[in-house]
Amino acid sequence: MIREAARYALARVKTRNHSSDSELRKALMLLLEISDPDETVLLCETACTVRNESSGARMAVRALVETSSLCNNDCYYCGLNRGNKKAHRYKLGREDIVCCAKDAFSHGIRTVVLQSGEDGTHAGEVADTIADIKKIGDIAVTLSFGERPRHEYALWKEAGADRYLLRIESTDPELYASMHRNRKLESRLECLDALQELGYQTGSGIMIGFPGQTAGHIADDLIFFTKRGFEMIGMGPFIPHPDTPFARAPSGSVRTTLNAIAAARLCMPNVWMPATTALGSMDKDWRPDALRSGANVLMPNFSPQEKRKLYSIYPGKRCIGERTALVQQECESIARAGGLTVDWSRADAPAFAVTLGKASSAGPA
Ligand code: 5AD
Repeated sequence: MIREAARYALARVKTRNHSSDSELRKALMLLLEISDPDETVLLCETACTVRNESSGARMAVRALVETSSLCNNDCYYCGLNRGNKKAHRYKLGREDIVCCAKDAFSHGIRTVVLQSGEDGTHAGEVADTIADIKKIGDIAVTLSFGERPRHEYALWKEAGADRYLLRIESTDPELYASMHRNRKLESRLECLDALQELGYQTGSGIMIGFPGQTAGHIADDLIFFTKRGFEMIGMGPFIPHPDTPFARAPSGSVRTTLNAIAAARLCMPNVWMPATTALGSMDKDWRPDALRSGANVLMPNFSPQEKRKLYSIYPGKRCIGERTALVQQECESIARAGGLTVDWSRADAPAFAVTLGKASSAGPA
């Protein structure tokens, strides 16, 4: 049974016709809290229609390479936090990373995402690696190395990096403080400012279901994403890691995560949004459901097989057993299950695709 209030909230968010942020916030909160089966179908189908009409019924593929599990931070949710003495640490060398990127390229993938703990790697070393990857061919390089000084982001952009992912985790200073030791929300905001000013296609995101997080917090974060005009948004459920202070906390709700993806799609028709690995690592693989809720990116793992289990930000990561040789079939099959077809291009954000002369990856007008 679909409530009138749910129809109204959906229409409000979809038309982006809000007399005030508080009205939008209320509508988003209602959508996030939907649990009735008819209402969830309506929400997710509407989100998919919005996505398909603005950027096509296609799923982009990004190869994830986890370059180092070393980290100087103490984030209370993450298994790589520096206080975790049980974590096994590794760092890939430049040649290993380039080798993973070549492997992805040879499997038809045209974006590589380099991600690591905040390990303080020398910025020049990263720049050299980026330059090497750009020599492989027309491949986009996305970085996800956390907070670094602006001049290092500039150096990496100069070396050829195209995109950067830096999740805000929460726009609420108190909630943010409850997640991180010795970190300030302002410095994360400054990093996001710098990345956007430097011309990166910029992504952000949050975990869903972190202890203390409410629908109001998530609604505020979605409004923040919309206003900032990010090109990419990543959202996955919080999964408690046994070697963190939140070991006994419950996992985030899959339903709320899917609702958040659908709500984000209504607010940001063109944004690239992954069916996150965290969603694939719960009781079942929920990534096709994410695609059926408005997501349109998949990030298969291209880290060296033996390193994957060591990059343990949360337990039970599905990718550990993924076989690279089957990646094309697996992408095709997940896309199909999600009602999409695979877009094997770099799939830049529309505004950047035009600048880069890649109108073909910009999708329908
Ligand atoms: N559960 C779910 N997601 C997590 N991340 C880190 N730790 C966890 C966890 N325990 C997410 C954070 C980070 C991204 C790389 O992974 O949002 O930004």
